[in-house]
Amino acid sequence: MPLIILCYSTIAIIFQHVSSASLPNNETVPAVIVFGDSIVDPGNNNYIETLIKCNFPPYGRDFVGGNNPTGRFSNGLVPSDIIDQLDMFKEYIMKIKEAFDRNIATTIVSKSIYIVCIGSDDIANTYAQTPFRRAQYDIQSYTDFMASEASKFLQELYGIGARRIGVFSIPVIGCVPSQRTIGGGILRSCSDSSNQGAILFNSKLSSQMVTLQTKLPDARFVYLDSYTPFLDMLQNPTKYGFEETDKGCCGTGNIEVGILCNRYSIDTCSNSSNYLFWDSYHPTEKTYNVLSSLVLDNKINDFF
Ligand SMILES: *[C@@H]1O[C@H](CO)[C@@H](O)[C@H](O)[C@H]1NC(C)=O
Ligand SMILES: *[C@@H]1O[C@H](CO)[C@@H](O)[C@H](O)[C@H]1NC(C)=O
Repeated sequence: MPLIILCYSTIAIIFQHVSSASLPNNETVPAVIVFGDSIVDPGNNNYIETLIKCNFPPYGRDFVGGNNPTGRFSNGLVPSDIIDQLDMFKEYIMKIKEAFDRNIATTIVSKSIYIVCIGSDDIANTYAQTPFRRAQYDIQSYTDFMASEASKFLQELYGIGARRIGVFSIPVIGCVPSQRTIGGGILRSCSDSSNQGAILFNSKLSSQMVTLQTKLPDARFVYLDSYTPFLDMLQNPTKYGFEETDKGCCGTGNIEVGILCNRYSIDTCSNSSNYLFWDSYHPTEKTYNVLSSLVLDNKINDFF
């Protein structure tokens, strides 16, 4: 889930990058299109559906203009099938084609940047916290399955006409506060098994993308490593202006998320500016701004 949020802030960051005049060969990017999480396991909606209900205080507390609990985490993020998202996207392309000349429409589709965020829920929730997947798969075969589903999805995007495709890796998912509480023992260390799952999936995703790049050379498949920078932020928080890394601002910070993080939560911090995490699962706005910049800074040229 952090990646969903990361993805949304990423839109703004990418726009900053692409609108600054530094693009190679005067390139233009007509749109940034983001596909959210739960791609690989669309059956895993229940937990997320409770999480996305956050249109109440203190969510939105620090929005520009003051309190504004818009339900931000759910904004456009109905974690239903990715197929729905692809279908919606196909409709969107049809509309572009109706509105513009066919060639222009094709150019818009091919020159837009597509950002895909996948896998965090699958490792942190579906695999780590429910027994069903573990009964069917070990972590090797589960991450194989996830990576091959991801590859299928990227090829579908290509089939629709996308040519500039970036995929975020899973961050250090075992170190979010709720994973520490649930899987980190009495000391609330990072959940090693979730982090190992993330590392395994990331390496498989990365090699799938190398394969796709070879097979489809007219596209750009850009692997966006968020694991390494996020780990650095956790290990060297002061470097980035953070202090609190193992609990969220909301409530005790150890477990509250979604409906458990509300105006009655006790001990919610009064100023989250030093917090890496807003609740026990989602980063603060500052975190994802820092992280998105770290991830994208050296990668933006790879899209062209
Ligand atoms: C970029 O645009 C500028 C201004 O229109 C032009 O002078 C320059 O030659 C262009 N560069 C390339 C690589 O097309
Ligand atoms: C939170 O703390 C930071 C750093 O001390 C400060 O700059 C900021 O104004 C504070 N924000 C609020 C809402 O008090």
